[in-house]
Amino acid sequence: PIPVIMDVDTGIDDAMSLLFAVRHPGIDLRAVTCVVGNTGVEQVAANTRYVLDAAGAPDIPVARGSARPMLVPPADASHVHGVDGLGGFSRPSDRRMSRLSAVELLRRELMAAVGTGEKITLVPSAPLTNIALLLRTHPEVAAGIERILFMGGSASVGNATATAEFNIWHDPEAAAVALTAAGELDIPVTMYGLDVFNDVVISRSEAARLRSRLDPAAQLAGSLIEFACDTFDADTATIGDAGTVCAVVDPDGLRTERFPVQVELSRGLARGQTVVDRRTWIGDLKADPQQTRPTMVDVALEVDGRRYADLWLATISA
Ligand code: BDR
Repeated sequence: PIPVIMDVDTGIDDAMSLLFAVRHPGIDLRAVTCVVGNTGVEQVAANTRYVLDAAGAPDIPVARGSARPMLVPPADASHVHGVDGLGGFSRPSDRRMSRLSAVELLRRELMAAVGTGEKITLVPSAPLTNIALLLRTHPEVAAGIERILFMGGSASVGNATATAEFNIWHDPEAAAVALTAAGELDIPVTMYGLDVFNDVVISRSEAARLRSRLDPAAQLAGSLIEFACDTFDADTATIGDAGTVCAVVDPDGLRTERFPVQVELSRGLARGQTVVDRRTWIGDLKADPQQTRPTMVDVALEVDGRRYADLWLATISA
């Protein structure tokens, strides 16, 4: 199995991602770190522990990370994820939190991997605050990272604003630092953004079938899909963040192209936009006034939606 660490802001679709990662035999989930995003970090931690319980996960370490973005106050996403961040389905869990901070847990797991010659795939589906802090504080962890496959950004439309995707918009400074540091440290980066995010959908009838099963993981997954369908008054809902973990085990379902990517940090209309440079001819870079060297990122441009939906359903139903 592929060793994976997830950084989450659970979150309806982070939950669908965690359920898949625990259940898929091709993933060895080593740790989960939490960050403010869809809801506050304490609620994210509570939701994450509950989802891991529902998935029947073994004692996977869960650590609390940043409670605030780098510079700006946290935003509220309860209009999408409900007041508890989990559509009202969160329940108390007896699962312990790690005593370590998210950054320290990440450092220890990644350095342990370096010690054994392994490399871990980092899968953030949240604002990149923890990841930025990690890479700037402990750049030596790069030797233990296979790649960073994150949900966030867009080469086209935004969702939090007309131009920016929520995870990047929530902490643009962190996203800029994380991408820049990854480029400097030669860590491969894949961006699973809004260009593919909405293309892996589950229908209400598939969700109802999941919810009618005896397994708590399937029941929760079905309920979350139905909640998302209700929120958007639609007959289908995306598995969203869970597409990232599908891409970990089935990379051929995703078409990516490599482009320079930078995050817009100005306070204007484009704040938090991931500027994907799709020009075929750039000209003399020495004449470019831009100071920061853009990071080359494998940008997901197309996904086989039915293939990932079937993979997700089969894994949750197994
Ligand atoms: C993001 O929005 C949130 O609803 C999801 O958790 C996902 O991370 C997509 O912009």
